[in-house]
Amino acid sequence: MPIERVVVAGAGLMGHGIAQVHAAIGCRVALYEPDATRATAGRDRIAANLERAVAKGKLGADERDATLDRIVPTGDLEAVADADLVVEAVFEDIAVKTGLWSELDGRAPERAIFATNTSSISIARLAEAVAPQRRERFVGVHFFSPVPVMPLVELIRGPLTTDGTEAAIRELAAAMGKQVIVSADRPGFIVNRMLMPFLAEAMRAYEDGLGTAQDIDTGARIGLNHPMGPLALADFIGLDVCLGIMRVLHDGFGQEQFRPPRVLEELVAAGRLGQKSGRGFHEYPKA
Ligand code: CAA
Repeated sequence: MPIERVVVAGAGLMGHGIAQVHAAIGCRVALYEPDATRATAGRDRIAANLERAVAKGKLGADERDATLDRIVPTGDLEAVADADLVVEAVFEDIAVKTGLWSELDGRAPERAIFATNTSSISIARLAEAVAPQRRERFVGVHFFSPVPVMPLVELIRGPLTTDGTEAAIRELAAAMGKQVIVSADRPGFIVNRMLMPFLAEAMRAYEDGLGTAQDIDTGARIGLNHPMGPLALADFIGLDVCLGIMRVLHDGFGQEQFRPPRVLEELVAAGRLGQKSGRGFHEYPKA
């Protein structure tokens, strides 16, 4: 069954990028947020991304317009009524995600595949939010940020996910030019299991006064050839999101390397969430 109609729930850092890459391969996308103004803001971010690509001569104006025309922001959950695929990219909190999935299950057609972009939470646990027959079409599809740029997708099957569901996701990812890796359904999957202890250790080094945030990041950028230092990367991902992922990893494995550092808890409590709030380990003056 070809996937033509897609609903992306959540228009934040991940959701807007996920909507963009689906629209770019020809899907019609409804970008959902309960507050429709946030959905419109997500579409505006996509427009800005596409505009940058046009300015660099990497995308034609026609293609920009066609991609944008395929994306409709909405505050109405009924948008899922004719969906072939629903991608959920809401906050990394199990109660938020399961609450949304159970609401969507009754509204979406039987054929619709449900893909969660969770970065750490058990797919089996999230699949419990939907009816048993839907669980065959429930799957983890984890994108990386910035979604239009990062060519990787982690695919995580739940206990009942069928081969047909996996094949449909693989076909979409191939059309997007993204490579698929398959992870078992364990906390943090493959990439965040590796990444989060690294970010946490950089935060603990900062906490200990080992170096400035600038020097810690420069160490990784210049000494390890990473595109961004770990503290800047945490700011980019969102410190609240990093905290949520580390908590899932720490609860799941109980190992010290996954324990959220004190400085991370403090920054999040103070509302310093990274790039999106203008301040995290570094400062981001508003343009
Ligand atoms: N949206 C869309 N495109 C973007 C973008 C964004 N937010 N930010 C940058 N880009 C594009 C630029 O337009 C540019 O495109 P072209 O090559 O076509 O011109 C390209 O990315 C490179 O951008 P810049 O030249 O402006 O900047 P850069 O070279 O410093 O690269 C970066 C920026 C791609 C973000 C790079 O710093 C990088 O790769 N950082 C690491 C990102 C990373 O590790 N992501 C994974 C995070 S973990 C995750 O997402 C999973 C999770 O669950 C937490």
